[in-house]
Amino acid sequence: MHRHVISINGEPASTIVVGRGVEDALVEFAGTRTSRLIAVLCQPTTMGLADLYSGSLVDEGFQVTGYTVPDGEEAKRLSVVEDVYRFLNESGFTRDDLVIGVGGGALTDVAGFIGGTYLRGVPVMYIATTLVGAVDAAIGGKTGVNVDGKNLAGVFAHPEAVLIDVDILDRLPDSLKREGAAEALKVGFIEDMSIVEAYEREALGVDLEEIVNRSVAVKVGVVNEDFRERGRRAILNYGHTVGHAIETTTGRSHGDSVAVGMVAEGAASRAALGFTGEERQRAVLEQVGLPLEAPDATAQTVLALMQRDKKRDAEGLRMVLLEEFASPKLVHVDDATVQAAFEGIGLT
Ligand SMILES: NC(=O)c1ccc[n+]([C@@H]2O[C@H](COP(=O)([O-])OP(=O)(O)OC[C@H]3O[C@@H](n4cnc5c(N)ncnc54)[C@H](O)[C@@H]3O)[C@@H](O)[C@H]2O)c1
Ligand SMILES: [Zn+2]
Repeated sequence: MHRHVISINGEPASTIVVGRGVEDALVEFAGTRTSRLIAVLCQPTTMGLADLYSGSLVDEGFQVTGYTVPDGEEAKRLSVVEDVYRFLNESGFTRDDLVIGVGGGALTDVAGFIGGTYLRGVPVMYIATTLVGAVDAAIGGKTGVNVDGKNLAGVFAHPEAVLIDVDILDRLPDSLKREGAAEALKVGFIEDMSIVEAYEREALGVDLEEIVNRSVAVKVGVVNEDFRERGRRAILNYGHTVGHAIETTTGRSHGDSVAVGMVAEGAASRAALGFTGEERQRAVLEQVGLPLEAPDATAQTVLALMQRDKKRDAEGLRMVLLEEFASPKLVHVDDATVQAAFEGIGLT
């Protein structure tokens, strides 16, 4: 059982627990409160898990009420948020009570948004049940819902605790292990090559406890330095400038899109900064079954979507590029660099 702590201004804000079986940690964190009322939010795919955790809490004398939101991104809608606000209000929920979100990144994003806004903020905990959630989405206090654009509205709000049960992650289907591998490899490329080496050795058979602990350690370190993404936190967006554009235009999954995005931004890194790791990066992505190209996208649409990227500033488009592995830089990119990125993924 490993614990990581996110601190804001030197004060501990969020504890992340990684281990096998997290019921004891759940009861421990819930038990630090005087209130006994808990609302457990889940999706249809995580209802069984939510029931198990609710049972453990009821056994400890908590009063638990549950609410199921729609699956996947359908949960990240303001209408769903409003439904949950009503449910909490009708349940007599106060600022002393606790919301627990059980699910993947979409569920924790919406649970965090609800927690950060209901009554101007109530305590929240997450139980992250996907690898993307465990290595990325549940960590770092960003929450959000989709309006026209993805994550268009959100608040920074830290869950008091994030619990990650590796036994649940081990049972995930390969498709979800692959999605998570894209984000874990991203963390590897920008900061911790031991993650990359693990996937090179064992592909999807990697030891997920080690991968999650290493990824969480990097993300916690970055967030502790720059919670509100005014500087260093931007490095976590490696592969995401092109990746988000691919995701929007093709409707591919986030992990697949980020993999293609990292191939493109690896090529851009070579063109702009002389990065020499392009082939190694492509090889490991391919080894875990992630795509290297998006033949269903066009350069024109991807470029148009990239122009809306959040990292853009008054001087133009910016990307996180690698000088070498574990040495990322947020830089302005010229047309030739964008061209190299597109050529790297066969975009014309
Ligand atoms: N807040 C952040 O910093 C941050 C960072 C990265 C991603 N995100 C967000 O996270 C979301 C992606 O997260 P995701 O990849 O976990 O997707 P997801 O939450 O949509 O989960 C993927 C699918 O797996 C199902 N699922 C969840 N747990 C499962 C389990 N244990 N077994 C089987 N199926 C399970 C879900 O119901 C869903 O159908 C996106 O909305 C993205 O914007 C947020
Ligand atoms: Zn991502």
